[in-house]
Amino acid sequence: MRSNFRIIKLSENYQLRPFDCGDNDLNNFLVEDALPYKQRLLSVTYLMVSDDDIVAYFSLSNDKISIPESDKATWRRIKKRFPHAKHRNDYPAVKIGRLAVSKKYQHEHLGSDILFFIKKMFVTDNRTGCGFITVDALRIALPFYLKNGFEYLRKEDILEEADKTVLLFYDLYPLTL
Ligand SMILES: CC(C)(COP(=O)(O)OP(=O)(O)OC[C@H]1O[C@@H](n2cnc3c(N)ncnc32)[C@H](O)[C@@H]1OP(=O)(O)O)[C@@H](O)C(=O)NCCC(=O)NCCS
Repeated sequence: MRSNFRIIKLSENYQLRPFDCGDNDLNNFLVEDALPYKQRLLSVTYLMVSDDDIVAYFSLSNDKISIPESDKATWRRIKKRFPHAKHRNDYPAVKIGRLAVSKKYQHEHLGSDILFFIKKMFVTDNRTGCGFITVDALRIALPFYLKNGFEYLRKEDILEEADKTVLLFYDLYPLTL
């Protein structure tokens, strides 16, 4: 991340500036929904800012990964990292509800820097305990997440062209070793 960029939590007294990532839903969320979601305790939004711009934003919520969302082989692999006595039908996670980089700054590795920031955030200062990051990735953004170590929770999604989004997960545990 560039030295003049910083990450702040969106709050009521922050004066939003124009933001365009090329996707209207994501642009509108920041202006219309991010604060109401925060007030209703649904998600928290963070901004990457410079002195002049909103460079990027992301919002996070609590989540879980669970057996019904996963294919059998992937779930077996996930379970393997826990001692047998700790095997469960679901595990706590944090969901990236939205992630968008301003068009002006795309393809400069900032989205990847933000994913790294989130990974570190939940490994080093995890207030509750969650071992996974999840995201319902837009198909157009799949290469971005796969390149950053995210995996399909359901292998069938690789072939399923119809859905607009695909559920991916990232296992945080290896970062702690
Ligand atoms: C998707 C997004 C967050 C990626 O952020 P970014 O800072 O531009 O991405 P990075 O520079 O870190 O990209 C890392 C890698 O991801 C891949 N990638 C990034 N954007 C991509 C795109 N639009 N299409 C295909 N691959 C992409 C590339 O392989 C890239 O590696 P490279 O630079 O070596 O080619 C950003 O482009 C964006 O906000 N897009 C519009 C909104 C969106 O789709 N958000 C995702 C919601 S799930």
